[in-house]
Amino acid sequence: MTTDTESLYRDHVLGNYGLPPITFVRGQGTRLWDDAGREYLDFCAGIAVVTMGHAHPRVVRAISEQAARLTHVSNLYRNEPQAQLAVKLDALAGGGGKLFFCNSGAEANETLVKLSRLFGRRKAGVEGRCIEVIVADQAFHGRTFGGMSATPQEKIQGGFRPLVPGFVTAKFNDIDSFRAAVTDDTAAVLVETIQGEGGIRPAGSGFLRDLRALCDEQDLLLLVDEVQCGVGRSGTFFAFEQAGIRPDAIGMAKGLGNGSPIGAVWIDDRHADLFQPGSHGTTFGGTPLVCAAALATLEAMEEEAVLDNVNSNGAYVMQRLEAMQADYPDTILGVRGRGFMIGIQVAEPPAELVALLRDKGLLVPSAGGNVVRFLPPLVATRADFDEALAILEAGVRERSPLRS
Ligand SMILES: Cc1ncc(COP(=O)(O)O)c(C=O)c1O
Repeated sequence: MTTDTESLYRDHVLGNYGLPPITFVRGQGTRLWDDAGREYLDFCAGIAVVTMGHAHPRVVRAISEQAARLTHVSNLYRNEPQAQLAVKLDALAGGGGKLFFCNSGAEANETLVKLSRLFGRRKAGVEGRCIEVIVADQAFHGRTFGGMSATPQEKIQGGFRPLVPGFVTAKFNDIDSFRAAVTDDTAAVLVETIQGEGGIRPAGSGFLRDLRALCDEQDLLLLVDEVQCGVGRSGTFFAFEQAGIRPDAIGMAKGLGNGSPIGAVWIDDRHADLFQPGSHGTTFGGTPLVCAAALATLEAMEEEAVLDNVNSNGAYVMQRLEAMQADYPDTILGVRGRGFMIGIQVAEPPAELVALLRDKGLLVPSAGGNVVRFLPPLVATRADFDEALAILEAGVRERSPLRS
């Protein structure tokens, strides 16, 4: 089995991800099993996707019932789950907005960038002017042309030029840098509330409030990418809530469908009419199937009060990691994040530590800046965290230059 799938991947699946190391065949809650029957503790959660854990009964039931009734009709027609999900997400975003549904985080951000173009055209009174979007250094907004062009990193952009024009980079968490980047051609600011791929760097609440004020003062859109930090991962449904701001539009994806591919954009009613009939779309966006999965995910989140779990266990793990950092200061250089979006900065490129932890049964993704991430399902328990911390400590001890 193992060799079969591995060799099929080697021969037939594009090598853009390298050759993935394990074949998984089953999941339950915070656990995954590979094709040899080995169990793993999943603190990757499909990179911040499997919000309520693998095979959550409510989500499984919603998907199978919806699949048996109606899977797809296209956006030429209405479907009930899409309407219900729009109502729910609008309420979670603060109300007074409209939803667009798509299939991924990058596609959500494409929509934000297109919104900025329409906004800029209205502001300038002519197309092609006022097209600039200020983005942050170390940002990650996706792999499509718009998302990649908004991601000022050579490792993402290299080889694909020419890029989409109009993106200007400012320093994350530095309002003076953003202010200095504003010109007559600026339409919008686009930031992750907590930078994920860049190494788990939260935007300061003061910085977000200053950005909101800057955008108000200069008549710019404040576009927030909550693709990774949204849907409860930070301890509030959206991470920006902690700064008390209201963005003009929000991109979300990952955790929304518990593994069903769904992206969404919320746009404040003041700007929602910029998208007129025919101006944007996607065949698969908002199918009854994925919307039913997302509704079940949101209902399960409420029913199981996962935000309380994220806040209490998030604080617990942070305090344990800080203690671990004090014990291994040469190996763990820093710990940061919010809720269940945690970054552990280590002294060397984390690939070997990630592989060592995997061998010990713990799955974690890495991020930029030598960071190992903890991104468990939001249902992870104190016992799951204790187990993960014990494995991490064993791995860190082995990698520590001071080990005896
Ligand atoms: C903040 C952020 N935005 C956008 C994306 C792109 O999302 P997707 O991979 O679903 O296209 C990601 C993916 O990691 C992300 O973390």
